Amino acid sequence: MIEQVKIALTSDVPVNHGKVIPVKGEVIALFNVDGKFYAIDNACPHRGGPLGEGDLEGCVVTCPWHGWNFDVTTGCSHDIPDEKIKTYSCRIEGETVWVEL
Ligand code: FES
Repeated sequence: MIEQVKIALTSDVPVNHGKVIPVKGEVIALFNVDGKFYAIDNACPHRGGPLGEGDLEGCVVTCPWHGWNFDVTTGCSHDIPDEKIKTYSCRIEGETVWVEL
C-alpha cells in the first residue's frame, strides 16, 4: 500500500543540495534541483554510501565514498548502466515536501 509521508520543508534543503532523511524505517536522499524536489534511496548500491551527502551537479549526484554517479530524476547511473536506484514520487504542498513510500 502506498503511503504519503511528510519528509521535510522546502527550506530544509538548499537549492542544488541534498539531505539524508530517515523516515519510517527507510533512509531517503532528498534533492533540490533548481527548486524541484527528487527523492531516491540514500544507500548507494555499490557499498551503501550516503548519496544524500554527495555533491549535486545539475541532476547528477556523486556518491561521496567512491564516486559513482546517479541521475536523481530517474535513479539511473551514468557510470554503471546496469545499476538503478529506487526513486520515490515527491510532491510539494505549500512549503511541505511529501513522498510516497
Ligand atoms: S559506496 Fe557509493 S560509490 Fe562506493
